[in-house]
Amino acid sequence: MIDIDNLVRENVKTLIPYSCARNEFTGSDGTFLDANENPFGSLNRYPDPYQRKLKEGISRIKNVPENSIFLGNGSDEIIDLCFRIFCKPGSDSVLTFSPTYGMYEVAAAINDVRLVTVPLNDDFQIDTGKTMKALKDPSLKLVIICSPNNPTGNSMRAEDIEIIIRNFRGIVLIDEAYGDFSKQKSFRNMINTCLNLIVMQTFSKAMGMAAARIGMAFMNPALVGYFNKIKPPYNISTINQVAAVKCLSRFEMVNTRIRLILKERERLAQALEKITIIEKVFPSDSNFLLVRTGNADKVYSELIDNNIIVRNRNRIIPGCIRITVGTKKENDRLLSALRKISI
Ligand SMILES: Cc1ncc(COP(=O)(O)O)c(C=O)c1O
Repeated sequence: MIDIDNLVRENVKTLIPYSCARNEFTGSDGTFLDANENPFGSLNRYPDPYQRKLKEGISRIKNVPENSIFLGNGSDEIIDLCFRIFCKPGSDSVLTFSPTYGMYEVAAAINDVRLVTVPLNDDFQIDTGKTMKALKDPSLKLVIICSPNNPTGNSMRAEDIEIIIRNFRGIVLIDEAYGDFSKQKSFRNMINTCLNLIVMQTFSKAMGMAAARIGMAFMNPALVGYFNKIKPPYNISTINQVAAVKCLSRFEMVNTRIRLILKERERLAQALEKITIIEKVFPSDSNFLLVRTGNADKVYSELIDNNIIVRNRNRIIPGCIRITVGTKKENDRLLSALRKISI
């Protein structure tokens, strides 16, 4: 049995958190003279620090109890908080599987935590042999698995993820930012049995709300307590909480758009395969496609000249660019520009 408290940095355990003015009163029709707010206006009050209404909606849709949900100012805030709660600067380390989402490395550098990377194999899957060896390092406190992975687009094999969860006694963070585009089942149902597991999702991708900056993390309630302890008190604005609640109330539209994106992903992949400068279109479980060309830098800059912006991944996966699936019109514009490029 894993003792969660043992995974947390000593200073976080002993920290006395900032206490919001309204922690003790949860009603809405009081006479609020406690937080030095302005009595006039419509956005004059501080947001609900625990986003209760939004968590109610998320709980219904994701089938996770409200007390197992933590919300961050984007998943990026949750990633940073994971480093701050579980990794001691200057001595602890974190494991990721390269190539992967760049913010893990940035968060490690900001927090002065050593980044250990195990390269994905030729199929962009986890090399479990090398990983098992890496898990033995006593300084390792956090393993981050991005599935589906950015920028490769594929999901990690569920069996390999389970091996890591079973064999590591630190925190396992699974980043499922693109999970709603994937055929693979979410790991969020395992948080009840795996106390060291955190599953992260976001409003930024399938939910279409990147501007609202809301990341979700599902985990054991005892872990949620530590996140609440160190987060900035009002980390999600009222405007964004309200927008997200509205998005959840129209979930049928979200699902319709996911289906549209998936249909376009297949059409785009097939059309890209027929273009001579495209050498390979990698299988995708996400809302983007990784493609290899003979000259990624040239393709990237010629697309820019046509006001089409894709992501040049040449430095981390030679010859590759990453293309987000857009609307039919946007994808057609991309396809016709690519057909004109010669390398
Ligand atoms: C794998 C992955 N995780 C997290 C994020 C960031 O998500 P958010 O917008 O919730 O901060 C991204 C953004 O591209 C991503 O690719």
